[in-house]
Amino acid sequence: MAKWLDNAVFYEIYPQSFKDTNSDGIGDFGGIREKLDYIKELGCNAVWMNPCFESPFGDAGYDVSDYYKTAPRYGTNDELKELMDEIHDRGMHILLDLVPGHTSVSHQWFLESMKAERNAYTDRYVWTDSIWEEPEGPGSLRGISDRDGSCLVSFFSHQPALNYGYYRPEKPWQQAMDAPGPRAAVEELKNIMRFWLNVGCDGFRVDMAHSLVKGDKDGTGTILLWQEIRAFLDEEFPEAVMVSEWGEPDKALAGGFHMDFLLHFGPSHYNDLFRCEEPYFSGRGKGDVSEFVRTYQENYKKTEGKGLICIPSGNHDMARLARGIHGDELKVAFAFLLSMPGAPFIYYGDEIGMRYVEGLTSVEGGYDRTGSRSPMQWDGSLNAGFSLAGREKLYVPLDPSADRPTVEGQAADPDSLYHEVKDLIALRQAHPALGNRGGIEFIYAEKDAYPFAYVRSAEGEKILVILNPSHEPASLACEYSLEKALKTFGGEAAAGDGRVTVPGGFYGFYRA
Ligand code: NOJ
Ligand code: CA
Repeated sequence: MAKWLDNAVFYEIYPQSFKDTNSDGIGDFGGIREKLDYIKELGCNAVWMNPCFESPFGDAGYDVSDYYKTAPRYGTNDELKELMDEIHDRGMHILLDLVPGHTSVSHQWFLESMKAERNAYTDRYVWTDSIWEEPEGPGSLRGISDRDGSCLVSFFSHQPALNYGYYRPEKPWQQAMDAPGPRAAVEELKNIMRFWLNVGCDGFRVDMAHSLVKGDKDGTGTILLWQEIRAFLDEEFPEAVMVSEWGEPDKALAGGFHMDFLLHFGPSHYNDLFRCEEPYFSGRGKGDVSEFVRTYQENYKKTEGKGLICIPSGNHDMARLARGIHGDELKVAFAFLLSMPGAPFIYYGDEIGMRYVEGLTSVEGGYDRTGSRSPMQWDGSLNAGFSLAGREKLYVPLDPSADRPTVEGQAADPDSLYHEVKDLIALRQAHPALGNRGGIEFIYAEKDAYPFAYVRSAEGEKILVILNPSHEPASLACEYSLEKALKTFGGEAAAGDGRVTVPGGFYGFYRA
């Protein structure tokens, strides 16, 4: 299995908003190439890039119209290959975003599938056999085809669901997983993966990985499907890495994924940390970390040794980290994100505390997600260094605030979030105990209480991590000595009589 995952730290690039090199107001492959040294310098050694394939962009590219061709606005297939080569030249890796659950309505397969006459794509999507019957699910496309029937959608109503079959078909139009239509969809999925792995990507982030087989409440059928894909990869591309958007690590890893993300939906309590009314990492000190830790431990037990549970700083679907927590609170949050097991994922711009831009009109199906997708803020030049296009041409408007953070500004300030994140990644990489596969034992994660403490361990090394996001000092019973501090922020801890007291807005790493 890919050894590089042991110390992978990912950077998520939303290509539209990262860096524009031809002044059309939209980021491109050339822009990502220009900024690879920046990503490397930060300490990230792997990239997840959001979909970059041909698309009408009704859902920012999650509505693919040709899986084998890059979107011209980002560059050609050859330019993507060059980007991959440059990434590899730097000892870094890249995962592409694979959208297996649905296509765009303008995909040729769907156009064929809508025809009344049977053809090779008739069963490529999930159709009922009458326009008057709607499939159960998020909705259906009806009345736009000569074919009689309603087509299940997978997310937005312009994203028809590809047909991987029903786990237990109950109606005549529901096909079994081993019926010819679903089998053809699986083989095509393998072809798409084969194609891009041959071009040179290192693997995939898989969109809505949990959703493929229908009528499959517990995920049993979908797990079987991914096991088949894993077997294909083991055979042809044993080094290929897969991370799922699933949100239930035990299921995803059973399906053969190497990693699963915790998400802003699903049972993980991830939102308790940064995105709820009283986030645990807010200085108000009214949050609760105990439910998060309880579910994390359950998942950790179920998945130990099988793969990684990844905790992202955010992504293109969630409010920015800096919407709910601010200033030094972000530093304590990153001390947590960069000291947990699993591969960390940093969403572009979170490392400088980029803000959620309030009140934007939706762009390309972004809706309330649009505020988290604004152009990267590089410097104080035109359009924050993102693009030389006129302001009205920018993909999403820039954060208009006069004090918006920039890479240039933060690089020049040794006390900035950027430097904190960089130092925390370096600390992680210098200590096996803090690494992706190191163990974790929680020593203090009580209900409605601060601080939060755990011990990471690997290769005979143990590191105690104490985090106190609250503005108030806090204490815990702790038998570990604090003599060997590796890194502290926000003051010093005081130890005595088996108790440790830490100041408010604090974190500390100690050799235990
Ligand atoms: C999850 C993606 O992250 C999101 O951006 C997209 O809208 C949906 N899946 C549908 O593909
Ligand atoms: Ca461009």
